[in-house]
Amino acid sequence: MATRRKCFYGNLRPQLYALIESETVDPVRNPYAPGAGQRPPELAGRDRELRQFEVVLERVARGRPERSMIITGLRGVGKTVLLNTFRSMAIQRLWGTGKIEARPEQSIRRSVAAALHTAIRELAPRHRAPDRIEKFLGVLKAFAQAEPPQAGRAAKAPAHRWQPGINVPAARGRADSGDLEIDLTELFVDAASVATDLGVGIGLFVDEMQDVPPDDVSALCAACHELSQTGGPLIVVGAGLPHLPAVLSASKSYSERLFRYARIDRLDRDAADHALLAPAEREEVTFTPEALDALYEAADGYPYFVQAYAKVVWDLAPTSPITEHDIKVAAPEAESELAVGFFGSRYERATPAERDYMRAMAVLGDEPVATASVADELGRKPSSLSPARDGLIKKGLIFSAERGTVAFTVPHFGRFLREQPA
Ligand SMILES: Nc1ncnc2c1ncn2[C@@H]1O[C@H](COP(=O)(O)OP(=O)(O)OP(=O)(O)O)[C@@H](O)[C@H]1O
Ligand SMILES: [Mg+2]
Repeated sequence: MATRRKCFYGNLRPQLYALIESETVDPVRNPYAPGAGQRPPELAGRDRELRQFEVVLERVARGRPERSMIITGLRGVGKTVLLNTFRSMAIQRLWGTGKIEARPEQSIRRSVAAALHTAIRELAPRHRAPDRIEKFLGVLKAFAQAEPPQAGRAAKAPAHRWQPGINVPAARGRADSGDLEIDLTELFVDAASVATDLGVGIGLFVDEMQDVPPDDVSALCAACHELSQTGGPLIVVGAGLPHLPAVLSASKSYSERLFRYARIDRLDRDAADHALLAPAEREEVTFTPEALDALYEAADGYPYFVQAYAKVVWDLAPTSPITEHDIKVAAPEAESELAVGFFGSRYERATPAERDYMRAMAVLGDEPVATASVADELGRKPSSLSPARDGLIKKGLIFSAERGTVAFTVPHFGRFLREQPA
């Protein structure tokens, strides 16, 4: 394959050397990675966010007051991938880390316990005082098993208590009141103090943070607030849909001072080209400039689409350089894969009434639309549409960009809906 030729033309620009002799494009070596949370072959266009997070880690490690980071953006722009990269950066600095994925209507108590358990297990082998770790694990176990007071009273005696898989007896009297705000605060302070012993920090990474139930969001913010005052080296790093800042500030007005929000969006032209070219060139394949134009037009710079088109194009293109013609041939297949995997799977989650609501939004265009206009379009009273709207927000299909307006969380979703038969 191409590798054998590298020694002759190693210093030539790949475009030039591709002209010298066409290479076959080997599907086995297809580098692209469309898929939720799939690590891309090249993390393009996120240097600013990576630098910012580098500073956050450094400052927290030095005990400087620092706001944590929250990444927001539409579906498929690369929030999960960036959050995972942040986590890797923390691990490289020998921090303890853990991650949760929030789900609607599910308390974060158990998942936070599991994530901090992971984080502490990462630190334990380096800690000189095993009894400190054991003591913390006892508190962690009690935290995990504590029930909210009213649930405890209402519920019949549980058949068997949840066992978090921690091999020490649960401690009593700390982080186990059942009030999540108090418990999280105590737990975070204790976890941070274990990390301090080692001169490192702890990172708790929360994906789909907009789905954390309101009471838990409020508790999480309060615990972060407390930590920011004591300078404990534990940070909560979040990722979520564009309305996440509004969710946080609705729960605690000081949340804006706790978090630095980084909104990530589609890749600009240079970054999108880089996302395509860098992995290809490692396999000694390249694209003509016209092919890059066509791909940018099709994918519109959205990372998920960039990966999805490139994957199919690679599989179907016979030789390098990949041409505009190859893109034209591959586009219908890429689009039908997106229609099923990216758009269709989300559309399926909606009820018939919610689908009508989204179709009406789509008719009104691709910008955020006023909920009153959606009601007009459907010939209904706005109040009668609240259940559909709230259902769609809960399912993460739309969000309220500003008061009284809604927008799709999925890029190009309006276009997809307009193309569906009624
Ligand atoms: N910076 C990037 N450069 C190139 N490709 C990327 C980049 N970021 C993400 N991708 C690709 O985009 C796709 C979507 O990434 P990811 O799942 O992280 O998005 P997301 O914002 O978390 O989406 P969702 O809101 O649906 O969870 C993946 O296939 C990933 O490989
Ligand atoms: Mg994600």
